[in-house]
Amino acid sequence: MRPSTITQSGTNRTFGDDEVIVSKTDLQGRLTYVNDVFLRVARYEEHEVIGKPHNMIRHPDMPRAVFGLLWREIQQGHEIFAYVKNLAADGAHYWVFAHVTPSYHRSQMIGYHSNRRLPHPSAVEAITGVYAQLVAEERRHSRPKDAIDASTALLGQLLADNNVTYDEFVWSITKVAV
Ligand SMILES: Cc1cc2nc3c(=O)[nH]c(=O)nc-3n(C[C@H](O)[C@H](O)[C@H](O)COP(=O)(O)O)c2cc1C
Repeated sequence: MRPSTITQSGTNRTFGDDEVIVSKTDLQGRLTYVNDVFLRVARYEEHEVIGKPHNMIRHPDMPRAVFGLLWREIQQGHEIFAYVKNLAADGAHYWVFAHVTPSYHRSQMIGYHSNRRLPHPSAVEAITGVYAQLVAEERRHSRPKDAIDASTALLGQLLADNNVTYDEFVWSITKVAV
């Protein structure tokens, strides 16, 4: 049995830059499939994760506003790219650059799918500062709804101050091979 709360170890885990962490969920965000890279990096056995909510690997440093944006986009049938810090079962954390999309069967949305690559350290450094500001804003509010509203507004403000959309910001910190 796993402890119900995971103690953070502070260890940053990476994975191969030729590897992809894959998971699929139903429409409620419960895991229906994970690949072997997911299990190895998150330190779970398959039977421990299938059917569980995807927030089982949620890290407390992740702003609610980012997941709010993710769910708004995918529920509307859009795809989204996001930097995510996850918590492994052994307390280590690992950063991913995720591409999350709806899955369809005969034109019906049946769930969601996420493919994740290892982010460049410079992107992690850039996003860490932004997420820290959003989480600090969230912690000023005791009600979850107020917290997400406030950090969603702050994210919008930070993007507007830099005259960029969310997608433009994400790609501006992302290094891709050319
Ligand atoms: C396909 C898919 C992949 C997801 N991947 C992650 C992930 O890697 N880490 C994570 O914390 N949440 C992920 N989420 C979001 C979670 O469902 C959840 O919204 C998030 O962990 C916040 O949980 P909370 O609302 O309980 O705070 C994913 C959702 C979907 C649909």
